[in-house]
Amino acid sequence: MASPRETDGEPTRLSRRRLLGYTAVGVGGAVAGAGAGTGTTLAATQESAPPADAAGSRTIPFHGPHQAGVTTPVQARAVFAGLDLREGVGAEAVGRLLRLWTQDAAALTAGRPATADPAPALARRPAGLTITFGFGPGLFDAVGKPEAVPAGFVPAPSFSIDRLQDRWSGGDLLVQVRGDDSITVAHAVRVMLVGARPFATVRWQQAGFQYHAGVAPGSTPRNLMGQVDGTVNPKTDDDFDEVVWSDQGWLAGGTTMILRRIRMDLDGWDRVPPPEQERAIGRRLSDGAPLTGGGEHDAADFTRRDHHGLVIPADAHIRRARPGHGRHRILRGGYNYDDGVDTDGNPDVGLLFASYQASFARQFVPIQRRLAALDALNTWTTPVGSAVFAIPPGCEPGGWIGRTLLES
Ligand code: HEM
Repeated sequence: MASPRETDGEPTRLSRRRLLGYTAVGVGGAVAGAGAGTGTTLAATQESAPPADAAGSRTIPFHGPHQAGVTTPVQARAVFAGLDLREGVGAEAVGRLLRLWTQDAAALTAGRPATADPAPALARRPAGLTITFGFGPGLFDAVGKPEAVPAGFVPAPSFSIDRLQDRWSGGDLLVQVRGDDSITVAHAVRVMLVGARPFATVRWQQAGFQYHAGVAPGSTPRNLMGQVDGTVNPKTDDDFDEVVWSDQGWLAGGTTMILRRIRMDLDGWDRVPPPEQERAIGRRLSDGAPLTGGGEHDAADFTRRDHHGLVIPADAHIRRARPGHGRHRILRGGYNYDDGVDTDGNPDVGLLFASYQASFARQFVPIQRRLAALDALNTWTTPVGSAVFAIPPGCEPGGWIGRTLLES
């Protein structure tokens, strides 16, 4: 198969030499227009011209046993859309939609325009794009397969801390689009949602952000409370096999996902002295290291005491969230959101908390229950949205996402 770099048109198809030539003409023209063009300026510009834009042309393979966008390291931008199937849409129509989505997602993630792409020029910078699909609890009845609901995949229970709003919750289908560029992501979202129109309506759409590619290379992201967020997370293929990928029936090679919109009271948080902020989480703000010492990735000592008592307090987030080992863990892949000011006049900011795990009931629910019962962070965080999805396995070229369910 031709690699995306060979098929996606300009400029990644250009050799470095030709690219430099183009750059020099462009820059030379601009300089000459300004009346300052000299041979020296042009030569210097040619030498310092950057190579073909690596961030813009980066592709993440769409095909494979698992869908991309789950264990893929987080990109800079994410849009999550929850859709409701239209009345009367059943298995045959859902199958048509999934074939179209698969074909378009495979094209866009490789830097090629989608079928009937409204703006093909916007498809040429894949920028690490991933497009991931999921099925909400209501889809199984709609396609006449109630018996195929994966074990432990229940509509999310409501937790005591929840203040859930319908406008951020539920949905029969999920489209998750992530990438390193906002234009690329917006275009892919539009293509997916326009393709879905005959079959489904958009119930909610939420956008989040992380560091842009190259801003903090190799470091763990931070959330808007200022904390290093994502330190203790499965990272290796063995971890992913153990924690993330299901081995059950049609979902084998897929996973389950919960997306919780967790609003933050940043004004309240700002009034808390930093040492207290650190005790609420159990880690240092400066580098994310546990309060019991060492570096970010050193193990926390949950037994250590000083003259005040436990160094990592009983209600510290990491003590309460700590899931133990093996299949009790989860993979967190959250995104920050900032949607300006809400109808109540307060900043609408927080975390789009996404968690992926083979079994929703066995892995996620016990952790969330412990946090709902006691977690210092609850003072400044409020879950306002919640939606769960089964994320089907990936597919090979010629196949389509969801086939394992619909043709099972
Ligand atoms: C706005 C809400 C939240 C914030 C700001 C937050 C922040 C953090 C931070 C800063 C850490 C420590 C660094 C790390 O290991 O990533 C952490 C760890 C963790 N969080 Fe959260 N979190 C939030 C919600 C949740 C929720 C809803 C869950 C699951 C139900 C969760 C589960 C975990 C887990 C499992 C860990 C790793 C604990 C360990 O083994 O050390 N968090 N979180």
